[in-house]
Amino acid sequence: MTAQRFLTGITTSGEPHLGNYVGAIRPAIAASLVPGVESFYFLADYHSLIKIDDPARVQRSTLEIAASFLAAGLDPERVVFYRQSDIPEIPELTWLLTCVTAKGLLNRAHAYKAAVDKNSAAGADPDAEVNAGLFMYPVLMSADILMFNAHKVPVGRDQVQHIEMARDIAQRFNHLYGEHFVLPQAVIEESVATLPGLDGRKMSKSYDNSIPLFAPRAQLQKLIAGIVTDSRAPGEPKDTEGSALFQIYQAFASADESAALAQAYAEGISWADAKQRLLERIDQEIAPMRANYQALINDPAKIEKILMEGAAKARALATPFTARLRHAVGLRNLASMAVAPKAAKAAKAELPVFKQYREKDGQFYFKLVDVGGRLLLQSSGFAAPKEAAQAISALLAGGIPSDSPVLTRAADVSEADVTQALQLLSTPTL
Ligand code: TRP
Repeated sequence: MTAQRFLTGITTSGEPHLGNYVGAIRPAIAASLVPGVESFYFLADYHSLIKIDDPARVQRSTLEIAASFLAAGLDPERVVFYRQSDIPEIPELTWLLTCVTAKGLLNRAHAYKAAVDKNSAAGADPDAEVNAGLFMYPVLMSADILMFNAHKVPVGRDQVQHIEMARDIAQRFNHLYGEHFVLPQAVIEESVATLPGLDGRKMSKSYDNSIPLFAPRAQLQKLIAGIVTDSRAPGEPKDTEGSALFQIYQAFASADESAALAQAYAEGISWADAKQRLLERIDQEIAPMRANYQALINDPAKIEKILMEGAAKARALATPFTARLRHAVGLRNLASMAVAPKAAKAAKAELPVFKQYREKDGQFYFKLVDVGGRLLLQSSGFAAPKEAAQAISALLAGGIPSDSPVLTRAADVSEADVTQALQLLSTPTL
């Protein structure tokens, strides 16, 4: 039995925030410590190009996300930690998968459909401003997952459909070309799937409601002060239900700590004090990583080296697997083909041959001789050379059985020898 493989990617489209930490980075590191699990974590920089056309931002985000994983305690020795674009086999596999993916499947992908629906609602062309990368996004993601035959893919709820598509695509490929791919499963950590942002909606760069993971304490404090609350005054009991502040706290606190804050809510803690508690709790976990993060950000060459080592590990799997997949679909080395002399000019001299001649009896004969000069077939006599030639043509076209009365198979020559020789001669050469 092979180890269970976990794989997940983070798109390098911005600065990592607390939601990324709680939803992806922290669980990934925890999972990497479980015995019997092989973890693959990567920076999905090809994916970032779908929405970002600012090269500096892609590069900066790649650095920040890599540094975040490392600062948060990921041990690159224990896992395969790499950058997607260092694995050229990924776009290659994307193409192989593209060719077995139903276009209709991609039409139904949430991200693409949302863009189309938005355009339609605005009365615009359905595909206005939609690049083909967005459309193909699920195939690229499938290649990420299938390349390493991951069993489990920890993702947020919004990504579950993509994992199902990866399964569909894998199944289709396996059906056509043999069992090459494991069918992956999404893993959603219910407790941490979504962290609310400052405004109470899901923390996301696109909502501009996020708290950067390694914001300095002063900035963290300022941002926390901006978390939405209701207008209840100090002393009034407060609801934990629907409180973004409480949910963020829970994501960092133990069950006991959360219960204590819930108690304080009931007793009417002021929002200012509750925010102070949240600040302290987050800072307790993040502060020790912050210095590490800064050191890493200031040493990009070190991160580059770690990523190159990760890429070498990833490619040690991806390169041979891609060779197998190429072979499976028919992208093959021609030199390894069963030799078919008819296809090669140089081999022309090495064909069997019909020899025509006239005997002393005045009749016209032919014989079929193989490459080595061995007699295969001997004809009986024909009155004219034209008749002999017609018999040869008929034979090549499969018209006269080689055991006809006008033909004699030489001793020790099998029917198969004759058939093979005729096949070699009757196939057109270039
Ligand atoms: N699309 C994912 C996201 O935006 C990132 C990603 C790319 C990914 N490739 C992946 C996640 C493969 C899991 C597996 O969150």
